[in-house]
Amino acid sequence: MLNTSQIILSIIAIALSYILYQAKKVYIARKHLTKWIPQVPGSLYFGAKSKFGPTKDRIKDTARLLDNPKKSVYLEFLSNWVIITQDYDLMEFILSSNELITKGPHYKNLAKWLGYGLLIANGQKWKTSRRIITPTFHFSILEQFVDVFNSNEAIMIEKLKREAVGKKGVEIYSYITNCALDIICETAMGVKMDSQQNKNKEYTDAVKDMCEILAVRNLSFWKNWDWLFRLSPEYKRQQKNLKILHGFTNSVIEKRKKELESNKDIKKLEEEDSFGRKRRKVFLDLLLESTDNSLSQDDIRKEVDTFMFAGHDTTSSAATSGILLLSERPDIQKSIRDELKEIIGSDRDRPLTYSDLHNMTYLELVVKEILRIKPPVPFIARQLTQDVKYKDHIIPKDTMISLFLYGMNRDPDFHNDPDKFNPDRFLSTDKKAYSFLPFSAGPRNCIGQKYAMLELKSMLAKILMNFEILPSEVPHEPDFTVEIVYKSKNGVYVKLKEVDWN
Ligand code: HEM
Repeated sequence: MLNTSQIILSIIAIALSYILYQAKKVYIARKHLTKWIPQVPGSLYFGAKSKFGPTKDRIKDTARLLDNPKKSVYLEFLSNWVIITQDYDLMEFILSSNELITKGPHYKNLAKWLGYGLLIANGQKWKTSRRIITPTFHFSILEQFVDVFNSNEAIMIEKLKREAVGKKGVEIYSYITNCALDIICETAMGVKMDSQQNKNKEYTDAVKDMCEILAVRNLSFWKNWDWLFRLSPEYKRQQKNLKILHGFTNSVIEKRKKELESNKDIKKLEEEDSFGRKRRKVFLDLLLESTDNSLSQDDIRKEVDTFMFAGHDTTSSAATSGILLLSERPDIQKSIRDELKEIIGSDRDRPLTYSDLHNMTYLELVVKEILRIKPPVPFIARQLTQDVKYKDHIIPKDTMISLFLYGMNRDPDFHNDPDKFNPDRFLSTDKKAYSFLPFSAGPRNCIGQKYAMLELKSMLAKILMNFEILPSEVPHEPDFTVEIVYKSKNGVYVKLKEVDWN
């Protein structure tokens, strides 16, 4: 006769065998459905993750795996079923779809800070948010932000003149990112932070620290699990940061809301501030004034936080990569300066206008080439919530599709001599729509891309009008890694020399 514990153990053993049997059935069915894609071998339950080297080699490893005629691979890891691809047709199929818009699971780490704001929202929630937020990026709004770029960049240039000129090398990312943070605070919330001048640093330091913590989680195997993350020192830091970040955004929203409510004549408020100066509208105002009542204060907070996150590290990474690339190319710097001289004339200290930025057509080619060679977002991911028919195949539900934007930007089938920094390649207008994807494409493309292009042009123009960028004489090897954005973990050094403008 079996005793009670033997019966319980037998039931557990039968249940486990049943679960493993079912898992194996699913595994075999998926293997069959995905056999048209080259498979990365891995064990049944621990998968192919071990086939990847250290995170800093993520780009190199992925490019190696995709070097096959399908430009795609299928791999498994525990319950993750992943297709990584840079195949043009598959990318177009996914990105152009109005249905396949669910973000991959790893975006969840952002949710504690950003909630389900536009960047990580899915389904109807995303559709509604996108409809409400799209008008806030209208060019008439962006036009007003050029003054914000001017004033904050002027501070950066002064600091660089004081602190960098005459030195053998300067770490440029820290200057760029502080300036980009001040710009996004002012354009998203209407708050002048002056963090470049070491003021109000609590909020901007918390933004930076949150980005660092998110990067640590992204790169760590264990810290991706919420319950294990809770045991880590980063969790305590995150909790402290969230209190500062949410507290600050909420207080700015409350203040703005009260101002709007107490001022029945909204038109007047739009036109003048309390000193009678012309008031510029910022993203927060536009969200508060949205006639769509579906946005609660909490929703607005999530969208403002989303702008803060999505709108500063991406542009900082692009500007920094651009400065590094240009340090090796005095010929391209000269062409940019020639164009700037024609547009600006002799007074390089005058503020730039929207139309100046619009006229910088050569600089626009350079910015595109920077984004092609060093895209700040090298991978994006979608999760399939249903079986999907693609050509003659079924891609099974729950597959994550990781789109290798970096690989597409450098695919020799679409870009001649792809590793060469050559802005003139963008003079040709016959590029295929999905072959250059720094901002992704389709319905979930980057909503901030026009803003980003303007900011990057403005920042690089100011730097080039004031400095010649040379390779650093301080020995330094930048460590480009895919954290949240693709950037050098140890910064970027260049040497700056003042230029004679006349
Ligand atoms: C060079 C700078 C930038 C790059 C390279 C970039 C790149 C991208 C990419 C690749 C996506 C798609 C992400 C995905 O599908 O997972 C995206 C989405 C997004 N970006 Fe940007 N971005 C930049 C600047 C900005 C700026 C300045 C803002 C805001 C001020 C912004 C706000 C957003 C938002 C809200 C989304 C989500 C859009 C949606 O899902 O509907 N980005 N960005």
